[in-house]
Amino acid sequence: MSASLLYLLVPVGVGASLYVIRKLREWKWGWVRNNATLRGKVFIITGANTGLGFETAQALAARQATVIMGCRSMERAGEAIRRIRQHTQEGELVPLELDLASFASVRQFSEAIKSRFPSFDCLVNNAGLAIRTPQYTKENYEVHFGVNHLGHFLLVDLLKDNIRANAARVVVVSSKMHEKARIDFDNLGKWVERGPRDRFNNLYNNSKLMNFYYARELYKQGYNVHVLCPGLCHTDFFRDYNPRWYHYILFSPVVLLFLRSARQGAQNIIHCATDNVNTEEKNPVTGYFVTNVEQTKSKFKFDDETSERLWRESVKALNV
Ligand SMILES: NC(=O)c1ccc[n+]([C@@H]2O[C@H](COP(=O)([O-])OP(=O)(O)OC[C@H]3O[C@@H](n4cnc5c(N)ncnc54)[C@H](OP(=O)(O)O)[C@@H]3O)[C@@H](O)[C@H]2O)c1
Repeated sequence: MSASLLYLLVPVGVGASLYVIRKLREWKWGWVRNNATLRGKVFIITGANTGLGFETAQALAARQATVIMGCRSMERAGEAIRRIRQHTQEGELVPLELDLASFASVRQFSEAIKSRFPSFDCLVNNAGLAIRTPQYTKENYEVHFGVNHLGHFLLVDLLKDNIRANAARVVVVSSKMHEKARIDFDNLGKWVERGPRDRFNNLYNNSKLMNFYYARELYKQGYNVHVLCPGLCHTDFFRDYNPRWYHYILFSPVVLLFLRSARQGAQNIIHCATDNVNTEEKNPVTGYFVTNVEQTKSKFKFDDETSERLWRESVKALNV
């Protein structure tokens, strides 16, 4: 074989292998195949203007659902609706203002839901953020705790009568990073500086563990609740980390093997929102969550004492 042919075959072979690996990964990450109409069903999604919430809203609208988009900026919500409408004319899209970093805003939002859509079918607690420098909610809780956990806790509490009356489903968007977390009760709701040896954003991971603990408590109380990890997804989520072009090159193996599109990650939310996922053996209390569009057992050792204490501390913080 001539050297020039070899120079051609090696990159083509490497490229083809990478392509196959990527396609196999995408196949493993899973897709929702059910395309049944959702006409007449009402879904509420927090943080629906971008990322996973946006993709979920678009997919549900395409299946003719009514989707309430709880967003903190009505301008961004309007822009999201314009983008969805370029893709589908089906379903109804209703933007409603919701800032999970403000109890008053959560209360206003829940009042609007109660008066306009009292018998909704599903609430998706999707909105979330991870940041590097301190930010606080209106009530002075650091935002990982305040937005990712407490704001949603308050929202469910305010809507609990409607949820119970309609046996509505609650979908909790957590993360596999909960397995690397622990709940630091001494600093609950306070900003804790990242140590030099901390590889991860512990405040974020801890808030995702709270999401899982919270889902378990809801399940114990008889709610139809599903908890999930969407996988590592290409969304606006990393906006505060400001990745540069060379990061993408440096991390290209990670990107190739692990980074899924927002549309693919959202399949896990759509699956939990529209399919019956929990079973007696596999549910949030037995430590199962949805990822890759199937139930997976968490490696985390949950304990009831922490679960109940988190519930009590959250109620205390909310004064409900
Ligand atoms: N992307 C990932 O790799 C990944 C992995 C595991 C879990 N997750 C989880 O997936 C969920 C969605 O994340 P994403 O990847 O779609 O991120 P994203 O693209 O940044 O979207 C987050 C959404 O949350 C909204 N939000 C943030 N703070 C809010 C507040 N105070 N009140 C109301 N809405 C607020 C954002 O609104 P604005 O646009 O106005 O900021 C945005 O709509 C999060 O719970 C995240 O923890 C993501």
